[in-house]
Amino acid sequence: MRIIEAQDYQEMSRKAAGIIFAQVIMKPDCVLGLATGSSPIGTYRQLVEWYNQGDIDFSQVKTLNLDEYKGLSPDNPQSYYYFMYENLFKHININLRNTNIPNGLEDDTRKECARYDQVIAALGGVSLQLLGLGNNGHIGFNEPDVNFKKTTHCVTLAQSTIDANARFFNSPDEIPKHAYTMGIGSIMGAGKILVIVSGEGKAGILKEVIEGPITPSVPASILQLHKDVTIVADKAALSQLTK
Ligand code: GLP
Repeated sequence: MRIIEAQDYQEMSRKAAGIIFAQVIMKPDCVLGLATGSSPIGTYRQLVEWYNQGDIDFSQVKTLNLDEYKGLSPDNPQSYYYFMYENLFKHININLRNTNIPNGLEDDTRKECARYDQVIAALGGVSLQLLGLGNNGHIGFNEPDVNFKKTTHCVTLAQSTIDANARFFNSPDEIPKHAYTMGIGSIMGAGKILVIVSGEGKAGILKEVIEGPITPSVPASILQLHKDVTIVADKAALSQLTK
């Protein structure tokens, strides 16, 4: 695992965006695996800025998002589709037909998971996967479990995840209890993985991810086995690593 230290969130975002920028320059029709949450907002903002300056072209880029809440429609402001549209897609020249997110409105879990796995397969996998890190070590919505789930599946969200994401919702009743997520196998199948982590609150779990045992109870720990992982984290998030 390659670790890049940033001073703060802003520098983390710029460095992460630089890695995505390089990927798109090297392969204009690459498949980008994208994430949601607070962590990538600055990264997307930086990419939009470079796009506005004419430095980056997304016209041939394809994207695959990690996850979506079950039961939320794309026009629900809490849905991950809405997040992606507002924070990135509407600002750049990406073809929306080349963007992919699990369909939160599909009730038939088996059907939606099979469909999304086919989408991933048809795209030939992910060139560069961007990941945030959940407070409990989750990636996408792969929650701590007794085994690693390989393919797209529907999860019951951990209470700690529901609590962590409650800040985005008006009332606790609105928070979905289930979500579709790409599996650990699909994430590990990406050519390159870029993890962004910011803040002291993530320092303990980041230490476990990097230095602890590989275990499904800390899903991101499996990244230790991937051959090309870059972690861009700020000083605060790296503060508990053994020097
Ligand atoms: C959500 C998302 C994850 C994300 C995590 C961390 O649960 N499903 O993909 O990485 O939150 O979010 P944040 O970046 O806001 O800490």
